[in-house]
Amino acid sequence: MSNYSIDAERLLLRIRTLGAIGRDSDGRLVRLAASDADKLGRDQLVSWLKGADLDVVVDRIGNIFGIWKPEGAGDQQPLLLGSHIDTVIDAGIYDGCYGVLSALEVIETLKTAGFQPSRPIAVVAFTNEEGVRFVPDMVGSLVTAGGFDVDEALAAVGIDGRRLGEELARIGYAGAEEPGFLRPHAYLELHIEQGPVLERENISIGAVESLQGISWQRVTIDGQANHAGTTPISMRRDAGLAAARVITFLRDRAKASKSRTVATVGTIRFEPNAINVIPSRATFTIDLRDPNEDSLQEQEAALSAFFDSLSEEEHVTISVERLARFQPVQFDQRIVALIEQAARDRGLTSMRMTSGAGHDAQMIARIAPTAMIFVPSVGGVSHNPKEFTPDAALVAGANILLDLAREVAAPL
Ligand code: GLV
Ligand code: MN
Ligand code: MN
Repeated sequence: MSNYSIDAERLLLRIRTLGAIGRDSDGRLVRLAASDADKLGRDQLVSWLKGADLDVVVDRIGNIFGIWKPEGAGDQQPLLLGSHIDTVIDAGIYDGCYGVLSALEVIETLKTAGFQPSRPIAVVAFTNEEGVRFVPDMVGSLVTAGGFDVDEALAAVGIDGRRLGEELARIGYAGAEEPGFLRPHAYLELHIEQGPVLERENISIGAVESLQGISWQRVTIDGQANHAGTTPISMRRDAGLAAARVITFLRDRAKASKSRTVATVGTIRFEPNAINVIPSRATFTIDLRDPNEDSLQEQEAALSAFFDSLSEEEHVTISVERLARFQPVQFDQRIVALIEQAARDRGLTSMRMTSGAGHDAQMIARIAPTAMIFVPSVGGVSHNPKEFTPDAALVAGANILLDLAREVAAPL
């Protein structure tokens, strides 16, 4: 498969260029979905897509497509390659962007080489993969896969009180096409691992065969504000303490789990949030993940039972809102085997693995044969500006994506 290679310089320069766009006044990379910073990143991507002579199409949920429809490819279903370019707060430069820019790189390489695919090949940047500003996360791909109504998704209110649909229109990325207009023949997503496994095992390529389930909830605990100096411990209705007990409960459950359960409370807010006032309210989010659906359900049930006993013990009321819930996903075994083959052909080591992070591939797997390729993340660090993958590893992964694209879109 491996007699072409991508233009490494071009890919690496684009990753760095996009990574410099959307910096806040402290120099942090913050391109939250449908923000002004996201618009700048999108504009840069679109200019590259146009420069590569691709047809640029934006759908109603703001997903950006660059479609290469070579003569003779007819109306075949396209091979879709991509990921996302929105980021978390204080992000690294690789998460998502590496997959989108490598997809573009693969198409440009194939075009330049005169490769004649049997079907169109398209690159996609899905809207709001991260879910930091709007929930649910992975919404561009979820809507594409028919898993969520587009109008409901556009009505989502973000952490800043703005609606996704209005924000997309404001930044010029509320397109006209119905999501799902492009029905992929197959979907491939190249991504940094964002975890420690490949580096620890000294393996170059992850052939990702599954992705763990994700459960997101927002919890509000109501107690009573009172004087921090005069209120005896036994008379308190302390929402802050109750929240702390939830955090340690989750940690203990995850530690004791026979599955690979992980649990995170990543946001928390107290009211009135004053040094000498017992918190009357605590609002926080729970991110609970598990590769095994039964185990994930068991954890959710245990948490729910804990809320009942906690509200009695601490004299607080607890309400829970579900923000997102996705089951574990198995990817297409044939594509996973092709990834392993491509790695062998290039003299690279590979291993099958489960993704700990959520990805758009998880959604698109509902409508098309799908798999992911991972490259190592140094120190397993991600969602952090220290996120890093060496250039050679990035180039190696992009070449595997190139080989896969050639194989899956080969002439008939
Ligand atoms: C996406 O980055 C996620 O796994 O939360
Ligand atoms: Mn990502
Ligand atoms: Mn991410």
